[in-house]
Amino acid sequence: MEEMKNIEVLMDEKRVFSPGPDVVERAYIKSFAEYEELYKRSVEDNEGFWAEMAENNLHWFKKWDKVLEYDFHKPYSKWFINGKLNVSYNCLDRFINSDKRNKAAIIWESNYGYISRTLTYRQLYHEVSRFANVLKKHGIKKGDRVMIYMPMIPELSIAMLGCARIGAIHSVVFGGFSSQSLKDRIQDCGAKMVITADYGARGRKFVPLKANVDEAVEVCPTVERVLVAKVQTVTGYRTAMTPDRDFWWHDEITADDIESYCEPEWMDSEDPLFILYTSGSTGKPKGVLHTTGGYLLYTALTFKWIFNNKEDDIHFCTADIGWITGHSYIVYGPLCNGATTVMFEGIPTFPNPGRFWKIVEKYGITSFYTAPTAIRSLMREGESWMKKYDLSSLRVLGTVGEPINPEAWMWYHKNIGQEKLPIVDTWWQTETGGILITPLPGAIPTKPGSACKPFPGISPAILKEDGTPAGPDEGGYLVIKKPWPGIIRGTYGDSENKRVKEVYFSKFPGMYFPGDSARVDSDGDFWIMGRVDDVINISGHRIGTAEVESALVSHPSVSEAAAVGFPHDIKGEGLYVFVTVKGDVSPTDALKKELINHVREVIGAIASPDKLQFASGLPKTRSGKIMRRILRNIAKGDVENLGDTTTLADPFVVDEILKGML
Ligand code: PRX
Repeated sequence: MEEMKNIEVLMDEKRVFSPGPDVVERAYIKSFAEYEELYKRSVEDNEGFWAEMAENNLHWFKKWDKVLEYDFHKPYSKWFINGKLNVSYNCLDRFINSDKRNKAAIIWESNYGYISRTLTYRQLYHEVSRFANVLKKHGIKKGDRVMIYMPMIPELSIAMLGCARIGAIHSVVFGGFSSQSLKDRIQDCGAKMVITADYGARGRKFVPLKANVDEAVEVCPTVERVLVAKVQTVTGYRTAMTPDRDFWWHDEITADDIESYCEPEWMDSEDPLFILYTSGSTGKPKGVLHTTGGYLLYTALTFKWIFNNKEDDIHFCTADIGWITGHSYIVYGPLCNGATTVMFEGIPTFPNPGRFWKIVEKYGITSFYTAPTAIRSLMREGESWMKKYDLSSLRVLGTVGEPINPEAWMWYHKNIGQEKLPIVDTWWQTETGGILITPLPGAIPTKPGSACKPFPGISPAILKEDGTPAGPDEGGYLVIKKPWPGIIRGTYGDSENKRVKEVYFSKFPGMYFPGDSARVDSDGDFWIMGRVDDVINISGHRIGTAEVESALVSHPSVSEAAAVGFPHDIKGEGLYVFVTVKGDVSPTDALKKELINHVREVIGAIASPDKLQFASGLPKTRSGKIMRRILRNIAKGDVENLGDTTTLADPFVVDEILKGML
């Protein structure tokens, strides 16, 4: 880490919004005093608090012997030791003979808007049980890894819950990732099966998912079976099927030898539930491992309290299940509460920018959870779109994934929140499993741009470089001092947890360091400032600059590359890459296009560079290290402030780059 970026602190935002009486009345935690008392207890008697929550919110086949064992120096943490439970049992079986049996569990809204599907708790249970038996028939056993590369269709949730039922470890790969990215992930975790669909639809675009799988598995000998769900809306779409390896979902699930009941596998609390790959500062994406008991409790409780979920509520989280937000707040958190969750296949602007609001009206959505980038892109389209729809069912609004600028917050508050709904700006990460810092509606006054307060049981702090606490408004590194049930347990394939130690526990030994900077104001509210490492946040999605650079240098014309983020009006951060080409290659516009396309092919469209500048050299120190600070300042147009360039091996490269700036 070269130096702390994103340290400019937004200090002049002083607006505060207190919850109105309607919000308070429906809330689980009804006042700031109640929150303070709960919080105090949750940290003073941390284990007692989580034990009570685990008892009240989950079904345990066998109760745990001990709540927590941890050592943040090694590091490891284990929750609900020797407890036995099953995630699909908690999300389904608990409800199928109750009043909830005919309640909608999943409402699916297709890309096209006129096709939708509702699965009640009983129907979902039936599908999941049968699918779990399909998995078994194809040789999947407890502990096997199953890759899921699907569009946002109900079969995706069924596949996850089916794996959870038999104790297989799922790893969902976002359908926008390339075949190469899929291949890397399959190889990393040695998946035995891939579950996919013939294609995925996103707005007017089609993604040939099955064809991507075919390309990937050619070099993945561990994959024995590919199950393919049929997305039937494009006529004449031909899917190549390899005999004895590829099977259609609809044939398998309806087969005569598939029984409708599948006994749940009683898993240990610490048995893995899933792996989700995420980008870091260095190397390839790492497989973040989450386990059964702690993760499920953490997502269930945060979902219930943060979205104030009550019996008649309908929750709509707009994320894709390929990311952690979808895992925790479309699938596991809502279903573990017996709530109704909406799964949306499309994009916010197709067929028009009224799409979300139409869904809100159509289903009477009560909690709505999206990313700042979506709010900013809808803001640009004007207010007429939401005026066409009845938004009066809404009760809580949320944002996630990146800092929200006060202007977008106020727009959301005024136009969607009708100036009265609480907005929960939720800070968390793939590694945290669920939300760690957030307002609780009904209890905590909100401020535009602030994630406000720690969730009960969470102990954050802001530290300066030397590890001492930062004062109010000073800004520094965000750390979490104690474990919580949803914390990352490891990265796949690293049984000694070396990678976790190095990435999250070495900057401040004994504390979890998420890679973000933040400040706390004089009211004790947290303001997240952004990543301090070489990870950039494009439209709420994490991309490691190292991944983009290695994709670029894998092209035969490229000699060196450096990728940095720059402020982008809609995406939050955009991607600016500097490329030097090999001696005999001309840096033409055609090559520029080819290189941008090459990155899309290697990683996926989300990593597509917004700007690509050819340079004859990159600014390096005498020891050969690229000085990213200079490139970041150039990318954001801050050329007056390039800092000290005297330590550069060749200061003239900077002048040349400045001349070619985009
Ligand atoms: O930098 C923070 C930012 O997103 C990162 C986590 O990304 P990912 O693991 O992909 O998970 C995204 C969804 C949980 C964090 O390290 N981030 C997430 N939420 C916020 C945020 N930054 C500011 N405010 C937030 N509410």
